[in-house]
Amino acid sequence: MSSLTEVANTLVSNRRGVLAADESIGTMSSRLESVGVEATDENRRAYRELIVTTPDLVDSISGIILADDTLRQKLSDGRTFPEALAAMGIHPGIKVDTGAKPLAGAPGEKVTEGLDGLRERVAEYVSRGATFAKWRAVFNIGDDLPSERAVRANVHALARYAGLCQEGGLVPIVEPEVLMDGSHSLARCQQVTRVVLRSLFDELALMQADFDGMVLKPNMVVAGKDCPEQPSVDEAAQTTVDTLRETVPPSVPGIAFLSGGQNPETATRHLGAMQNCGSLPWELTYSFGRALVGPALETWRGNPANWEAAQRALSVRAVANAAAR
Ligand code: 13P
Repeated sequence: MSSLTEVANTLVSNRRGVLAADESIGTMSSRLESVGVEATDENRRAYRELIVTTPDLVDSISGIILADDTLRQKLSDGRTFPEALAAMGIHPGIKVDTGAKPLAGAPGEKVTEGLDGLRERVAEYVSRGATFAKWRAVFNIGDDLPSERAVRANVHALARYAGLCQEGGLVPIVEPEVLMDGSHSLARCQQVTRVVLRSLFDELALMQADFDGMVLKPNMVVAGKDCPEQPSVDEAAQTTVDTLRETVPPSVPGIAFLSGGQNPETATRHLGAMQNCGSLPWELTYSFGRALVGPALETWRGNPANWEAAQRALSVRAVANAAAR
């Protein structure tokens, strides 16, 4: 087994999942401000330290995705974040895209950037201890969206990112996110997710990415958050699994879902229900951001007296998701 395959398997197996703590400086700043914490480098660092020093996290978390700024910061004890994670038995990961930008000629749609210089950045991240990477593409659902232009531009970038990561020794987490924003139905989300995933795996094959050395991080198939007809947990879970069976090659070791703005308990229930949808060729796990760390951030609010309670709030979500598997 190649080391990429080994890392990919470790990330998704043993009932563990991946924690996404890779919010960009802008996104992290607004999350901090939303709970009354000043958006400084130090507060972003402290919040990430709270996450990675949560006791027993290794039991439910196999890897943590960091942002570039965190990779260069240190814990209070002087270790870098990757050093501390590796010592705990948690894989350090790195978000390598530089964000979704408006796509020319496609109003309302975005293409994720970050390919220029990526080979050199991958080499640097490997030298700093990262073992895996993440790149997120976003797809809006609208009457005529996503356009074929937006789908093709984004899957092309995802596939080139995956190839560069594998060449340089990082396992790519490939994240095509069909957004929950809007009033579309479950069926429409399924249709769009199917198109995106088919197109993605065609492009990954064209770029000769190794399916067994990657992790797919898709959205769950759910109705838009403003849709008046919300499916049951079992219906959304079954539709998600059906869509993945149609589109994801069996050689992919694991599928680690994003939470996408679902409330933390609902995301966990969906994950649990999917484990009862028959035997599957891949592991199904979590790579949540908000659904894992949201309650901890709400609890911490920048107050050192809330530190341990916030870590307990993170533990509760991490343990619940591991149990749901
Ligand atoms: P959410 O689970 O909050 O959607 O975040 C996952 C992620 O990594 C987004 O890129």
